[in-house]
Order: sequence, then structure tokens, then C-alpha cells
Amino acid sequence: MRRAFLLAALFLITFRQASSQNMADPPFTVRISCGSSQNILPSGTNAMWSKDEFFSGGSAANASVRSGYTAAELSTLRYFQISDGPENCYNMSVRNGHYVIRIFFAYGQVDNSNKEPLFEISIEGTLVHSLKQGWSLTPDLSYAEFRAFITDEAATICFHSTGHGNPSVLSIEVLQILDDAYDIEQKFIILKTVQRISCGSKESKFGVDYSASVWGGDRFWATDKDLDMGLATTISTTRGIQHASDAPNLVPEAVFQTASQTSAGSALTYILDVEPNQNYSIWFYFAEIDPSVTEKEQRIFDILVNEIPIFSEFDIIGKAGSPYTGVILKAFLPIDGKVLTLKFSPLQGGILINGFEIFQVIRTEFKTTDIEVWALQSLKTSLGLPPRLGWNGDPCVPQEHPWNGVDCQFDYETGSWSIDGLDLDNQGIKGYLSNDISHLQNLQSLNLSGNSIFGGIPPGVGELSNLVVLDLSFNRMNGSIPESLGSLTHLRKLFLNGNLLSGEVPAVLGAGPIRGASFNFSGNPGLCGIPGLRSCSDTLSRGSITAIVISSIIVMLIGGLCAVIIHKRRQNIARAQRLSTEKSWKFRAPSSNS
Ligand SMILES: *[C@@H]1O[C@H](CO)[C@@H](O)[C@H](O)[C@H]1NC(C)=O
Ligand SMILES: *[C@@H]1O[C@H](CO)[C@@H](O)[C@H](O)[C@H]1NC(C)=O
Ligand SMILES: *[C@@H]1O[C@H](CO)[C@@H](O)[C@H](O)[C@H]1NC(C)=O
Ligand SMILES: *[C@@H]1O[C@H](CO)[C@@H](O)[C@H](O)[C@H]1NC(C)=O
Ligand SMILES: *[C@@H]1O[C@H](CO)[C@@H](O)[C@H](O)[C@H]1NC(C)=O
Ligand SMILES: *[C@@H]1O[C@H](CO)[C@@H](O)[C@H](O)[C@H]1NC(C)=O
Repeated sequence: MRRAFLLAALFLITFRQASSQNMADPPFTVRISCGSSQNILPSGTNAMWSKDEFFSGGSAANASVRSGYTAAELSTLRYFQISDGPENCYNMSVRNGHYVIRIFFAYGQVDNSNKEPLFEISIEGTLVHSLKQGWSLTPDLSYAEFRAFITDEAATICFHSTGHGNPSVLSIEVLQILDDAYDIEQKFIILKTVQRISCGSKESKFGVDYSASVWGGDRFWATDKDLDMGLATTISTTRGIQHASDAPNLVPEAVFQTASQTSAGSALTYILDVEPNQNYSIWFYFAEIDPSVTEKEQRIFDILVNEIPIFSEFDIIGKAGSPYTGVILKAFLPIDGKVLTLKFSPLQGGILINGFEIFQVIRTEFKTTDIEVWALQSLKTSLGLPPRLGWNGDPCVPQEHPWNGVDCQFDYETGSWSIDGLDLDNQGIKGYLSNDISHLQNLQSLNLSGNSIFGGIPPGVGELSNLVVLDLSFNRMNGSIPESLGSLTHLRKLFLNGNLLSGEVPAVLGAGPIRGASFNFSGNPGLCGIPGLRSCSDTLSRGSITAIVISSIIVMLIGGLCAVIIHKRRQNIARAQRLSTEKSWKFRAPSSNS
């Protein structure tokens, strides 16, 4: 069963002259010297490194520990502290296509006080690399290289903190290669370079040192002289190699001009450390360059990976047709353990190998729906989220590093991630809620409780038809409650208490508690209209206040007038009474006098 899977995955590559892309055009390239305030042209090269840009945050520092593989002029880095957030990204506008992406690491005194940081890296939302302890002491571990397709016109490379120091980066290269290089047609695969070896070469070199095609992504070819490979000798030639630099892989001719070989009957073995339980893509490069081997069947060998034969009775000249002619083999296979052992076992003569590449095959993650990413970015701005929350890159992937406060669900129908929960309670947020929230159509729970969010509740909240929980309590939201909230039929919890809301609670919401949902509108001095709040008829409009003032004045005037009239009348009555008393007295007086 396992054998059948392996064999089905094996191919012999036939060379091809032309590629669909026009190699006369320059490839798209970005080279960034992180932390640098100026463009840099390292001495003895013609590759310009641009000053640091396209990053989401962080600070610049000098690198004191850096990879020996890079030019000395690249001496600065960018680092990301906790306060910069858990993930920070470089987002570079690029032409859609196929790219080699290479990242060199470094650290310094300011950024990590001379302690090697450990962190993780994602490309286009797919987790591709975790730095291993001791990387700074091992040149091969001080960089990471990938081959990936960019299909959204921006290369997004993110650095994720794992709590072991500040992520820091020395340089980033994004170098276009041919679309069909490595024959990977599926765009949902990222190849991570485990080893790229130029067998028998005296030293490690970049493609540019070999005057390789610019469409080859300036790949780094390491020598095998330091690898544990037993009794091998090296051989080289200056003769030209046919089909060496053919498209699409564009392997430098020089790689075919050196080889490691063994004497007749001796096996050749390479032992490499790999991530266990992963799939690997292996590419072998051969050209017969030993002048004593001129015919087929003079050199025949088997190729085994972890003792499993992947190519049997391989004959270089037999496949290539002639000596000094390149031939490529490739295999795709799973590896269970931590070690990948490449063994070349002779059947006739000795072994000869010119080069090989081993890639870990990483399936790309599905991304978050564009519109929802865009809506979250709009909320990040309107709410003024602090940098420490992150919110860079893709909200849901890598799945190991989702954005703070964002809950995601996978939609099997659309093959994308969407946002079903947003929990940003008690985060000291001081912004407003943008109406773009209406684009988070899968949102079921929104909790922004305990912040200082001001402004109104945007009517778009009423379009979030899947909303079950809406908690905006204890903020400074004002204005009235939008009628649209009434159309949220799934709503079970609506907490708007402790705000500055005013006006009438929409009648539909008033019935919520009757349906068994729990609603809280209290602590909003201006709100009215449902049981527990004051009645809206108490509410006095400005017009009615004026009317009341005017009518009170009239009442007072009338009252005053009445008072005057009454007073006058009283006076008259009193005078009349006094007069009549006098009269009667006067009247009586004569009688009493009589
Ligand atoms: C890096 O070191 C140089 C001196 O070598 C100094 O002038 C510069 O300010 C340092 N840069 C940073 C970001 O620390
Ligand atoms: C990356 O940049 C492109 C434009 O260059 C932009 O459209 C996109 O929204 C950016 N992505 C992120 C995650 O910032
Ligand atoms: C390895 O490849 C097989 C076949 O394509 C696939 O089913 C499996 O999920 C892959 N494993 C990993 C770890 O990617
Ligand atoms: C919202 O968050 C606050 C604070 O963590 C919590 O007390 C409250 O119960 C949450 N609201 C809902 C509806 O779950
Ligand atoms: C709500 O408050 C903001 C300031 O925070 C103010 O500009 C706006 O006019 C207020 N809206 C209402 C309806 O009171
Ligand atoms: C509503 O919120 C207030 C605080 O604003 C709280 O005192 C009260 O207990 C809450 N009522 C219910 C029914 O939860």
C-alpha cells in the first residue's frame, strides 16, 4: 500500500526548452534590508536592498548576531516587542506569480539583550517556520527559504511571538521564479527548503555567484563538504553541460559541473534532519562528468530514502542519452521520523551525484473571506485598537495564531474562514463602532462591554442576522437604539445598559424578554418606553418646554392680574363694609341719640 503510493509519486523529468513566461522580461523582485533607513548596495554585488518599509510596526536596531551568509552591509534589523502586538507583518505589493521567499534572522543588544529569540513565521496565512533553539550558532538555521505562489497581489509575511523574546528579522527577499518551476501546478502548496546541495563544490554559493538566470530566484546552493556522507571524493569539469540550465528549474550549470562520487561498489549516504510526519519533495540533479564513464550501463545504482527504494537501476547516461548532459529525477514521499537518509547503492561501478534539493511540502491554509478581513480592518481603525492587540495579517490563520478577540469558523461550502465572534470587552478601547461591522455576516456574538466606545450604535448591527449575543454595555454610546435591531430574530442577549443612549426603545425590543431573551437597557438616563424605564410621555421636547415656559408666563401674568383684581375687589369690599358700618353707625347714632 505504502509502496504503491510512493511509486505513483515518482517522475522522471524531461527537459523543455521554452517556458510560458517571457524570460527576456525581468522577474519581479523585492529585497528589504530590515531596520535600514537607506537603500544598500553591498560591495561586489549588483542587487540593491531597499530601505525598510511595508512593515506593520516594530522598531529598528543594530544586529550584533547575524547570519554569515549575508553581506556585511546588512547590519540592521527590525524587531517586534509585546507592545507591538503578537503578530506583525510585512505586506509587499507584488505581481501575482511564483516566488522564492527568503528570510534571514538576527538579533542584537537593544532588541533581545543578546539572547536568541524564538518565534514563528507565516507566509500568506500559512505557518511555515518555527525557529529552533541554537539557530544563531548554525548558519544553515539562521535563515529560512520557501517557494510559494502569490495570488492576491501582495506578499504577506508575518512574525508571530511565542513568548521567547522579540521576533526580529534581518532581511526579506521576494524573488519571482517561473510559474512552472518545480512542476508544482497546485497553488495550494508551499515548499520549504530543507537542503539545496551542490555536491562536490568547494564552497556554498548563491545563484548570483554562479551567474545563474535571474529567473532562478538566486537560490542558495550549499556545499556538501561538511555533511556526514562517508567516503566520497569530489570531481569537477569545465566542460559545458547540455540541458543544464533549462527552464523551468534553471539550475546553474556550475551545479552540474561538480559532483561527489564513490569508487566502484561503494555506497554514498546523506543523513539529514527533518520535521517528522511531513511530506517531502526531493529533486536530484545528475550529469555524467567522469571522463572514464562514457557509455550507458557503466554506472548503475539504486536510490533509497530511509531504506525504501525510490529509483531502481538508475543509469545517468542511459537516461540522459550522453555524458555531460543533465538529467533530473524527482520524488514525493512522506517521512515519519526525524531523519531523512538518502542512500545511493551501487549495482555497477560507483556513485555520482551532482546536486539535490529537499523541500518540506506544506499545504497552504484557507484564508478568511476578503470582505470580512476588510470589515475587521475598518473596525480596527474606527475603534482605534491599541497595537498590542495585533490584528495584522489574516484574522483566522495561521490557526495557531488567530487575532486577539476574534473567533473563527470554517465554511466548507466556500472553503474559507469567517468570523463568528468578537470579544473585545474591557480593552480600554476609545473609538467608535463603524457601520462596516454589517459585513461580518457570520457574527453570532459581539461583546464590546466595558470600554469607552462613543457615538451611536450603527444601524448596520441590525443586518447581522445571525447575532445571538450583543453586549455593548458600559460604554459611552449615545443616540437612539436603531429600529433595525428589531429584525435580529436570533438575539438572546442584548445588553445596552450603562451607556448614554436616549429616545424610545423600539417596541419590538420591548417584547424581547417576553420571548425569553434577556435584555438590559438600564443605566441610560435618556432612554424610555419599556417597563422598568420611565414612560416616554414624560419626555419634554424643546418645543413643549418653550410652550410650557410661555404658558407659565401667561399663567403667571393672569395669576398676577387676578391677584391684583382680587386685591382691588377685597379693598372695595372692605371699603364698602367700612362705609356701611359707618353708615349704620351714622344711622344708628341718631337712633342711639334718640
Ligand atoms: C546603530 O549603530 C550606529 C553606530 O554604529 C549608531 O549610529 C546607530 O544609532 C545605531 N542604530 C540603532 C537603531 O541603534
Ligand atoms: C496588503 O497590501 C495591499 C496593497 O498593497 C492591500 O490591498 C492589502 O489590504 C494589504 N493587506 C494587509 C493584511 O494589510
Ligand atoms: C502528505 O500527502 C498525502 C497525500 O497527498 C496527504 O494525504 C497527507 O495529508 C499529507 N500529509 C501532510 C502532513 O501534509
Ligand atoms: C461580555 O464580557 C464581560 C466581561 O468579560 C462579561 O462579564 C459578560 O458576561 C460578557 N457578555 C456576555 C453577553 O457574555
Ligand atoms: C454623540 O456623542 C458625540 C460625541 O461623542 C457627538 O458628536 C454626537 O453629536 C452625539 N450624538 C447624539 C445623537 O447625541
Ligand atoms: C442591568 O444592568 C444594571 C447595571 O447597569 C444592573 O444593575 C442590573 O442588575 C441589570 N439588570 C439585569 C436584569 O440584569
